[in-house]
Amino acid sequence: MNVYSDIQSLRAQISAWRQQGLKIAFVPTMGNLHSGHISLVEEAHKHADKIVASIFVNPMQFGANEDIDSYPRTMDADQQKLIAAGTDALFTPTPDLIYPKGLDKQTYVDVPNVSDGYCGESRPGHFRGVATIVCKLFNIVQPDVACFGLKDYQQVQVIQSMVEDLSMPIDIIPVETMREASGLAMSSRNNYLTAEQLAIAPNLNKAMRWLAEQLKTATDYVSLIEQAKEKINAAGMKTDYIHVSHARTLNPAQPQDKHLVILAAAHCGKARLIDNIQLNLD
Ligand code: PAF
Repeated sequence: MNVYSDIQSLRAQISAWRQQGLKIAFVPTMGNLHSGHISLVEEAHKHADKIVASIFVNPMQFGANEDIDSYPRTMDADQQKLIAAGTDALFTPTPDLIYPKGLDKQTYVDVPNVSDGYCGESRPGHFRGVATIVCKLFNIVQPDVACFGLKDYQQVQVIQSMVEDLSMPIDIIPVETMREASGLAMSSRNNYLTAEQLAIAPNLNKAMRWLAEQLKTATDYVSLIEQAKEKINAAGMKTDYIHVSHARTLNPAQPQDKHLVILAAAHCGKARLIDNIQLNLD
């Protein structure tokens, strides 16, 4: 695996592959890789000949009081994992390379509607940061396909909308969430959890699974959501939000909607956990 920290040499490699008629898949990450990230690389292999990954802790998607400084950085271990997964090239830019004029003067991408609620409301500016960096990385790598984990369900919808709205010739491949045996969705932020919190955290998914089961036969969303929230809080977490939404638009679910998603976020110690469950009521 070749590692590139500048745009020119990465582009030279990618254009050499293109001249050979090879298909390129892209897996953007912020590093601290776990099995969920590696499953993205594995999925990418099914769609392309060459796999390009990136590791960049994107300052634009962190709020002023968020964890950019403590966000786990494990570059050497990450590289070993990407090599073992058969990654062909890794892009590791610095913030100065990506945002040479500084964040304040950076052109940005705002994706309306799907960015608005849920994590978009709890983390103002977050999806602008995500859409901008993903757009910029797409322009640098120019992949045929790009893989994103469904753990960040709203992020996948934001990126899918951006690609559609801006006619980007890239297929977005959503990849199922990898979970611990406890049901906890894998996340780099699980590293913030103490042993005690690790025992509590799976109750987020447990409450969501309970809600999903109820929704198969009941439509009293408001009271059921309230009960699920109580379960999360009673387990020792603080619910940020839990909602039932239309799976694609992310608008609040209507009784006639058949494809739903339960979206939730909760604080557990220092970690803010997010999770989702898709429901097909057909
Ligand atoms: O999901 C992530 O790790 C990040 O939000 C992404 C897509 C790499 C953009 O920084």
